[in-house]
Amino acid sequence: MAKRWNNTLTEADVTPYATYLNRRQLMAGAAGLGLTSLAGPLAAGDLDPNSWEEITSYNNFYEFGTNKGDPARYAGRMTTEPWSVTIDGLVDRPGTYDFRDIMAAMTVEERIYRLRCVEAWSMVVPWNGFELADLLAMAGVQDGARYVAFETLLRPDEMPGVSRPVIEWPYVEGLRLDEALHPLTIMATGLYGKPIPNQNGAPIRLVVPWKYGFKSIKSVVRISLVKDQPPTSWNKYSAREYGFYSNVNPHVDHPRWSQASERRIGGGLLARREPTLMFNGYEAEVAALYEGMDLAKYH
Ligand code: MTE
Repeated sequence: MAKRWNNTLTEADVTPYATYLNRRQLMAGAAGLGLTSLAGPLAAGDLDPNSWEEITSYNNFYEFGTNKGDPARYAGRMTTEPWSVTIDGLVDRPGTYDFRDIMAAMTVEERIYRLRCVEAWSMVVPWNGFELADLLAMAGVQDGARYVAFETLLRPDEMPGVSRPVIEWPYVEGLRLDEALHPLTIMATGLYGKPIPNQNGAPIRLVVPWKYGFKSIKSVVRISLVKDQPPTSWNKYSAREYGFYSNVNPHVDHPRWSQASERRIGGGLLARREPTLMFNGYEAEVAALYEGMDLAKYH
């Protein structure tokens, strides 16, 4: 298997927490002076990140239980070393890639993204990660590939939640190839400059910021390049409620609740709900992917 490891960035090289906080102050100052370019073209609106505590204690990771505190309580049982990701299907260099080799080959950067759960709560998360496009380029995407399928680890002795058939295990997700190759789509490996905690999807999880959070599948062990639209966990559970696309859209309600507004975690009890933004605030970057599509039909 031909591998070209031309870069040696590792978790140790990502922004330390203190540097991160300093940069935040710098960015806040720069924003005050109108120097918004420092915040980067990928920023969308007010991106004051949630705290480490909030991001790592209020989670959805159903393999460890369905309560928001279950992942923080139980995900520590998940063994994440060694870890490998199998990349297969329509690729030139299929194989099982060791997580450390992936990290050595990829350039890790910080991305501060909104996260909007389909349950109508939201956070802002400072991820560290690399573009999925770079990982797919390493494997060499073949011509016939049109979709990318993802799979989470399934290890029942370490995952108390999978003894119940809440959804069909393992958790699976999918993207259209152009969505997967979009520069906003990352594989996250860190949070606040530290390795990503187990409850947030260690050691490597997908983050697609313009889609409902359930598309951002955690603890990925397989990535397959395929011809046909792959099955996805929540769509199998209820196709009417959870579409394959699941782009954040304030105009398309969930059958059981409105998607027009959201509750920002950490806002406090008296905080007003905030209006939900089209494509979660990333409309300028991603709307072209869906030109001419009926977004209510392809929800
Ligand atoms: N991935 C797996 N494997 N299992 C899950 O239950 N929950 C999803 C998504 N990825 C989930 C998952 C949902 S509903 C959301 S909102 C996000 O993870 C939550 O990510 P966070 O806990 O890091 O905020």
